[in-house]
Amino acid sequence: MSAGAARKSDDILHPLLLRIVHWINAFAVIVMILSGWRIYNASPLFGFEFPVGFTLGGWLAGALAWHFAAMWLLGLNLLAYILYGILTGHFRRRFLPLWPGPVLQDLKDAFAGRAVHAPGRYHGGQRAAYVFAILSIILAIVSGLAIWKPVQLQELTALMGGFEAARRVHFFAMGALVFFIVLHVGFAVGVKGVLKPMITGRPERAE
Ligand code: HEM
Repeated sequence: MSAGAARKSDDILHPLLLRIVHWINAFAVIVMILSGWRIYNASPLFGFEFPVGFTLGGWLAGALAWHFAAMWLLGLNLLAYILYGILTGHFRRRFLPLWPGPVLQDLKDAFAGRAVHAPGRYHGGQRAAYVFAILSIILAIVSGLAIWKPVQLQELTALMGGFEAARRVHFFAMGALVFFIVLHVGFAVGVKGVLKPMITGRPERAE
């Protein structure tokens, strides 16, 4: 390998596979949320409905079709991401350590606009946010399975406290994801030099 080629491959911040699973994941999560809002509107749990303009599917059956299609994409893609993260050591390198003290300090710094974004390293706030997002997706999938197949998976539904409780868990997992997405997209767009590498793989260069 030439020196130039070696330097180029060393430059990669986010490997291609990670970028592919990240963007598929983002697409699938957004489809799940928007179609989920339409399904929720057909039988609201709480005293409100989501504005129809922010939902996907047009009607209940259409929304269910979107929800179940994206469910497979999300589940299989998440599995690929988790296997990649564990087998390549990516999770260990990028998400650990996660000590509460430094995480809180880094979160405060991030909201004050003082966080340090070192190339290829996430600060404590990012690490906690990404682990939070992954756990929220897992909770959404598990609680979703409990309300999708309450007879076949009755132990799982019982573990969630029954069908109605599982619906609430599913709703709050969605809420946690929406909370994450609002902050995540805000930081990704607002912090210079963060978004482009998740598209091209390479750090942004000062021209
Ligand atoms: C909608 C659901 C989304 C989820 C669940 C999600 C989740 C994640 C996770 C877990 C990571 C860490 C990746 C890793 O290193 O393993 C990440 C990184 C990243 N995401 Fe997302 N993401 C979502 C949507 C988006 C969107 C819409 C954008 C852009 C507007 C975005 C921009 C980024 C960027 C730029 C990074 C890298 C951050 C950095 O290097 O500091 N994500 N995302």
